[in-house]
Order: sequence, then C-alpha cells, then structure tokens
Amino acid sequence: METSIVDIVIGMQYGDEGKGKIANQLVSTGNYDYVVRFNGGGNAGHTIYLNGEKIVTHLVPCGILHGIPSVIGNGCVINTQKLFDELEYLKGFGFDVSILKIAENAHIITQDHIDEDSKDTKIGTTRTGNGPCYRDKYARTGLRAKNVPELEPYLIDMHSLIHSSPKKFLAEGAQGYWLDIDFGDYPYVTSSNTGVGAVLNNGFNYKQVRNVVGVIKCYSTYVGAKGYQKDDARFQQLREIGQEYGATTGRPRQIDWLDLDEVITACQMNGIDRLIVNKMDVLNKVQNGWNWYQDGKLYSVDDEGTFSLCLMSKIIQNIPDINIEFQGQLH
Ligand code: IMP
Ligand code: MG
Repeated sequence: METSIVDIVIGMQYGDEGKGKIANQLVSTGNYDYVVRFNGGGNAGHTIYLNGEKIVTHLVPCGILHGIPSVIGNGCVINTQKLFDELEYLKGFGFDVSILKIAENAHIITQDHIDEDSKDTKIGTTRTGNGPCYRDKYARTGLRAKNVPELEPYLIDMHSLIHSSPKKFLAEGAQGYWLDIDFGDYPYVTSSNTGVGAVLNNGFNYKQVRNVVGVIKCYSTYVGAKGYQKDDARFQQLREIGQEYGATTGRPRQIDWLDLDEVITACQMNGIDRLIVNKMDVLNKVQNGWNWYQDGKLYSVDDEGTFSLCLMSKIIQNIPDINIEFQGQLH
C-alpha cells in the first residue's frame, strides 16, 4: 500500500438512517487505523449500542469506542464546552479519549452562534450554532481550533495525518444527503455538504477513496420546520416502534414512506458501492407497512420479501454494480 485509503459512510436520506450503527460495525472489524468526522458539529446525534449499552455521541467519532484514534476534521464545527462534556461522558464508560485528534483548521462555535441559532423558527435547526458558525467561516471572520488554547493537546494538520504515511481511514458522515446545503430542499437543509465530496475537502484526494457505503432506513424521517409527515395513523405507530425521536433535540421525527427516487439520486450523486437498508424489523411490525414512492406514485406490497426484491430490482436498474443489504434496527 503506497498511499492512505478512505472508506466512507454517508446517509442517503435526511439523517438518522443508522450511520452510527454501520460505522460502528465497520470499525469493529479492526480494519481501520483512524476514524474521521468530516462535516457538521453537535447538530448530529449518533446512537450506538455497544455490549448492550446505549451510547449517544454528537461530535466524537465512533473509533473512540474501539480504541482507534479518531479525528474531528476541518469540515466540522466545534462547540468546545460540549466537546469536553462529551469526552467526560465517554470517559465515564471507560473509553480512552486521549486518542482524539482535532484538525487545527476546524471552526469553533461561539456563544454568539448558539444565541443566534436559538432564535431560529424558520428552519427548525438543532439550535446548536451550526449555521451561524459556517456562515462566519465563509465570511472569513470565524475562529479556528488552533486559536483555542484548551484544544492545543489535540491539534493535528490534516495533510501530514493523511499523506505522511499510508493509513486506513473510515470517514463517518453526519446528517444525510437530502440535508446537503447544495442539493437538499433549500432552505430546509443543514449548513454543510453532507455527501462524498465533503470528504475530499478534509484533505483526502480522490484517488484515495475506496468504498462508499450509503445508509438508508426502509422508511423516511425528517426533523425540522417544514411539513413533511402526512395524515396516516401508521406513521404514529412507526414513530413509537422505531423510536423516531431526535437523538440531539428529542423532537419527534416526521415520517413518510421510503422515497426510492430520492435514494437512487443520492446513490448516483455519491457513487455508492454498497447500500444498507436499515430497520426492516421495525417496518415489519407495522400493519400494511411495506410501501414506497417511485415516480411520484405510492406502491404497496404484502410482505418483506417482495418489498426487498422490488427495491433491489429498481435500484439495480439504475445502478447495476451496487451491492444492497437489509438489516434490522440493532444489528
Ligand atoms: P442545523 O444543522 O442544526 O442547522 O439544522 C438544519 C436542519 O437539519 C434541521 O431540519 C435539523 O433538524 C436537521 N438536522 C441537523 N442535523 C441533523 C441530524 O443529525 N439528523 C437529522 N436531522 C438533522
Ligand atoms: Mg442522528
């Protein structure tokens, strides 16, 4: 191996697809030297079940749960106080958090960012200061991690980390492709790019990208201010069975059936090699739950097997070399 490689896990819907679970599975294989977060900040919520324990992280990459050095990349925005609180929380489980690294050119969320974001009613943000922080980054008035003395022990330079010697990286995405600042339903989006391109903006070059894993749920959820959920009692049932409440804000997620057109577009735009369809066990518990949209029409089938086959054949028609895998909620 002459150069570093990076495998990437990204969401193909509106976040909360179960990326945390998949990243955790991949990291458990012991095949990676580093895990990197490449976008977003404390707006993300990654729920991981490890040895029967539920662990929720917002900023710290899942490598820390496996003793693998982990990096908050320059594409992320950091609330320093929240980061230290999360490190304390993880120390409480016995994890070694000293192996965390932070890109010196990542941006810092200030109290002013949080205060401003807390007044939001238009987008339904997570009120974590994300949008105002990215705005100041692009206005060239922001504060970088290297200007914060408490972060000094963690700081690294992405170029030397990635390019000084060959290593295997897993890049763990936050949010989902349809919350992307460019391709999502603007303005109901987050303030970062959430797709595969964002990984390259953290110092990887395009030749280093090896495998791109897309993650979806077998139904859709969205959290935010726009009206998304339709009037159907089955969605209420789905929310309870699937525990569809925001990991960061506790807000109920709005629910709809799977939108296959969205999924296919996201897979094409991100060059997905392997697509994981999560929460099949949840949909199985909902009466007449096997539904999806395609070409603006609603399709319904009777059972899980037919649903999986239909999804596979429709996706493969558009992306012939994709690998599709179905999973349950916890494993
Ligand atoms: P912000 O990222 O806090 O600015 O929020 C913008 C939009 O993205 C809102 O609709 C949030 O609910 C949504 N959002 C941000 N992060 C996540 C996430 O990790 N999961 C799901 N939705 C998210
Ligand atoms: Mg989440």
